[in-house]
Amino acid sequence: MPLVSFIPSGKSVTMSEGASVLQAVLAAGEAIVSKCDGKAQCGGCHVFVHDGRKSLSKIGREENERLDSIVGVGSKSRLACQAKLGSEDTTVEILGFGSGL
Ligand code: FES
Repeated sequence: MPLVSFIPSGKSVTMSEGASVLQAVLAAGEAIVSKCDGKAQCGGCHVFVHDGRKSLSKIGREENERLDSIVGVGSKSRLACQAKLGSEDTTVEILGFGSGL
């Protein structure tokens, strides 16, 4: 069961493999923009994944297309609603408002 830690709050939560990063964000009580109900459409759940990236599910076409339209995307970028947790502990940076579209 991966431990998901958040930057900058320092909160953490243990989740089941296969849960989405967005589910972990919500379980930890972190605030994030999620206007599309996790359908890879709003871009508001853009986060940076610092540790455990390789353990996450691969980036699919919809996530890739949405990330392409977001300003400030980098090699650590994922959409929290699309990235599913693997077995490794994961560190996620929650970005401020305005990081999405
Ligand atoms: S919640 Fe809208 S893109 Fe993830």
